Amino acid sequence: MKTEILRLLRESEGFLSGQQLCSRFQVSRAAVWKVMEQLKDEGYEIQAVRNKGYRLVGSPDVLSREELESRIGTRWAGHHVVYFPQTDSTNLQAKAAGEAGSPHGSLFVTDRQSAGRGRRGRAWESPGGENIYMTLLLRPEFPPERASMLTLVMALAAAEGIETVCGGEVGIKWPNDLVLKGKKICGILTEMSAEVDYIHYVVIGVGINVNQDTFPEEIRETATSLRLETGKKVIRGELITEILKRFEENYEIFAGTRDLSGLQEAYSRRLVNRDREVKVLDPAGAYEAHALGIDERGELIVRTREGETRKVFAGEVSVRGIYGYV
Ligand code: BTN
Repeated sequence: MKTEILRLLRESEGFLSGQQLCSRFQVSRAAVWKVMEQLKDEGYEIQAVRNKGYRLVGSPDVLSREELESRIGTRWAGHHVVYFPQTDSTNLQAKAAGEAGSPHGSLFVTDRQSAGRGRRGRAWESPGGENIYMTLLLRPEFPPERASMLTLVMALAAAEGIETVCGGEVGIKWPNDLVLKGKKICGILTEMSAEVDYIHYVVIGVGINVNQDTFPEEIRETATSLRLETGKKVIRGELITEILKRFEENYEIFAGTRDLSGLQEAYSRRLVNRDREVKVLDPAGAYEAHALGIDERGELIVRTREGETRKVFAGEVSVRGIYGYV
């Protein structure tokens, strides 16, 4: 009932009558009043006027299952929300749920991670109360070799979502870091459980530095937050909702062709590596090259110092700028 009341308050133009809520949920006025009091305790600003009802005048930046479910309006992405005030890692939780049979589109969100995981075995610092840590569980019907492209689909969705909520232009550092003014604001970690020709599930974990205003010394030069760069305090529930909406749209475009041809233009427009010197961190040996762009499979096309054109596969390697992070 709390989720539904919150959704109705958000959707209603004016006041929402207490009587209407009572008949809709078949509960007493006291029960409706109690939910309103709970919401106020959580920070929602609700105006109550005798003979008119209730009106939502302000939403706090809080995360909860009700906050997310009352906002998300997609068909499947984030339809089933699992929220933890704190957990080890939303990717670990999503993988456990994947093993246990949770459906395609389940979303795992937390306010704080005690064992946040980054790419290449690194840790992902995950302080509470200010950032987004979320993982989407997917059960794609295409072959495993297509799965690494989903990371790029999410990178584009997250960039578009941030642009809609915060304004400005977000860059993508291939394959899946988001950057603002040359510094990282978002990282994505995709993991998969599959057989040679069959995907059991894929989890896509997204970490966004949202309202964080200080960073540890060792990453201060390369990391930043939306708040620091735009000066705006972001309501995390609003941003998560927008990213899921964009992801659902982009995923369906992707699933239509099983490649990035329908998204390549939007992705390439934001690609910060394009026409830059990069160091390709290939496990078989790092090398320097000139980045040209991506192809429809999301591979980075580079020209080596010897003049050879190569395609770098997103699943295996990442790149670093030669003159800095980008
Ligand atoms: C990177 O190294 O750039 C990827 C970082 C991914 C972090 C996110 S936060 C939510 C999800 N849970 C994790 O443990 N990691 C991802």
